[in-house]
Amino acid sequence: MPGLKVSAPGKIILSGEHAVVYGYPGLYASTSLRMNVKLINKNNKSDFSSFADYAFNKAFQSFKIKNDLNYFYKIESRIPIGSGMGSSASLAVCMSALAQKIAKREFNLDEINKVAYEIEKKQHGKPSGGDNTIVTFGGFVWYRKEAENLKVFSKITPKKRISNLFIINSGIPKETTGEMVNFVREKYEKNPEKIKKIFNQIESCSKGFLKLVLGEENLALKDLISANERYLEELGVVSKETKELIGLLEKKKASVKISGAGGSSHGSGILLIYHKNPESLKNFVKSRKLDMISVSLGKKGVKIEK
Ligand code: PMV
Repeated sequence: MPGLKVSAPGKIILSGEHAVVYGYPGLYASTSLRMNVKLINKNNKSDFSSFADYAFNKAFQSFKIKNDLNYFYKIESRIPIGSGMGSSASLAVCMSALAQKIAKREFNLDEINKVAYEIEKKQHGKPSGGDNTIVTFGGFVWYRKEAENLKVFSKITPKKRISNLFIINSGIPKETTGEMVNFVREKYEKNPEKIKKIFNQIESCSKGFLKLVLGEENLALKDLISANERYLEELGVVSKETKELIGLLEKKKASVKISGAGGSSHGSGILLIYHKNPESLKNFVKSRKLDMISVSLGKKGVKIEK
């Protein structure tokens, strides 16, 4: 078994983050940035992160494998860590797929997803389950958590290709996803009517993205991205610093939104950027010492690498 390798994609949320925790829908897409996890012999142990260790052990436990087999893991990843691109979900899904294979069970995405969701709970408290689902199944997913035990999702076959998308990292948020979810929860409890109104607007946006991807309506991607960003700013999950950066990018005719939990005090994670002519942003990005990474959407979910 050492040498066994699995990979899973990172994800972006086109629309619906935070609202999805309250049962509103979200539109997710897998990305071309991936993570590989390889099974190695324990004496070659090199990686260490407490969450990775937890995920590895929890996946083994879930598939009832005793880890007296002297196995360890090695991670290689292009997914930015802790920045809203689903790095923890990819890790959870990879560990779950590895353990399923070691347990000699048939490759089963629903089972991988279920175990990964349990692992994600350690990292995020009460996650919606959207991240592990898109990372497991890949492509585009319309996701809704109706109840803890009923999460419904549909895989979407896009009729329209979304191109000219980039990410820039506005900085790793100081707050964890769990903390940002709690931050929104406190606001919700203080003023439910106001927050519900924002969630309803986010839902309209998510439906707009859905119709665009399905080719049912010719909506402008740039307007949907900008509208979604304004609602997330109203929720308070975008920091002042990030709003300033977004403002400057918008002056250069980019459409920008955070993707994921965001961050309210410093960085807000990755920014999803659409521009008709991305070349025109190069000088600005260079002057700010930022990295602009091109991403394509809808890539394959978790898989066993040959
Ligand atoms: O962990 P992130 O940054 O990808 O955010 C997940 C999206 C949230 O809606 C904020 C939380 C959730 O559990 O869905």
